[in-house]
Amino acid sequence: MILVTGGAGFIGANFVLDWLAGSQEPVINLDKLTYAGNAENLSSLAGDARHIFVHGDIGDASLVARLLAEHQPRAVVNFAAESHVDRSIHGPEDFIQTNVVGTLRLLEAVRHHWLTLDDLEREAFRFLHVSTDEVYGSLAPDAPAFTEEHVYEPNSPYSASKAASDHLVRAWHHTYGLPVLTTNCSNNYGPHHFPEKLIPLMIVNALAGKPLPIYGDGMQVRDWLYVKDHCSAIRRVLAAGEVGETYNVGGWNEKPNLDIVHTVCGLLDELRPRADGQSYSTQITYVKDRPGHDRRYAIDARKIERELGWKPAETFETGIRKTVQWYLDHAEWVAHVQTGAYRDWVQTQYVDAAK
Ligand code: NAD
Ligand code: TYD
Repeated sequence: MILVTGGAGFIGANFVLDWLAGSQEPVINLDKLTYAGNAENLSSLAGDARHIFVHGDIGDASLVARLLAEHQPRAVVNFAAESHVDRSIHGPEDFIQTNVVGTLRLLEAVRHHWLTLDDLEREAFRFLHVSTDEVYGSLAPDAPAFTEEHVYEPNSPYSASKAASDHLVRAWHHTYGLPVLTTNCSNNYGPHHFPEKLIPLMIVNALAGKPLPIYGDGMQVRDWLYVKDHCSAIRRVLAAGEVGETYNVGGWNEKPNLDIVHTVCGLLDELRPRADGQSYSTQITYVKDRPGHDRRYAIDARKIERELGWKPAETFETGIRKTVQWYLDHAEWVAHVQTGAYRDWVQTQYVDAAK
């Protein structure tokens, strides 16, 4: 069995769903269910004994210690984090609490558990930390993409807190010998993405007839990866990554935000045309830029390809079409997020059901 943290969020939920679609190995899923945690993402697993959901905080050392002792997972995959840059600008404290203090407490609970294992189990155990390319800072337009050797230059409270967590993970390996792996991935997109991030926000706003807010000139570049490709990379690193190593994960899909929004609008024009026949792109509006906005991210993913044989399965064109179609097919999921009803799911599914 494996312990996943943050498995009710966007990437974590995709990871848990894909894991259980491809393996019989059970998952304990520890999630605090912050605003970004949506237990409804996991509704298809209701009644599946391979999925054990635990509502709790990675910073709760005694809870984590109890889960580790009780279930004896062979690995921990840490997705749990505060993840939205704009929220980190308005309120950095939660980011330090979960991403830094929470990771510290999780590492300590895992280390104490790991020390109780016998030699073979200790050798096989893994702690995989899921991180971001944003720790590397911003690239000049013609600079080469980030390799694993790139200096850490985080610019937002979010990326600074993730950088701190990466350093803790590294130190727990070098100092205590904890068998860690770290992945630094570029921007993800796909099903179950909370509509505060660029791509789902644009889809949801477009369909609701609302403005599509572009920060600044819209020429900031991100390197987009379909979420299921990120999940396959994590599975590959967990299975074959070298302990203590970091792996950059990316889709070789650098695109300016404005291109992304035009692509989304074009797909919606084709799949769900506006009643007045106009393009959704007429809803684009330029708004004040994000403070400290990083201009460009790009991942050099050659190490994971060369050493572990991983490559993304989707191109941007196939992945974005699937994503737009998923949002069109899941109007109820979107409505529950918008009304806040997704927060009732945990009550129905886990609290009332236990009565
Ligand atoms: P998300 O915000 O959608 O989900 C985060 C999940 O963690 C939520 O379910 C939330 O309830 C849970 N959580 C938050 N604080 C917690 C705590 N203290 N204890 C337990 N659970 C807690 O984020 P995401 O986009 O799925 O990102 C997952 C991870 O991947 C993060 O570590 C993020 O930094 C990293 N990452 C994200 C991207 C991206 O594009 N979204 C890219 C690279 C790396
Ligand atoms: P986001 O999805 O928040 O991811 P990140 O900041 O982690 O890269 O934003 C992606 C890009 O889109 C980023 O350059 C900011 C920009 N953006 C907008 O222009 N408008 C928006 O409403 C949002 C949410 C983001």
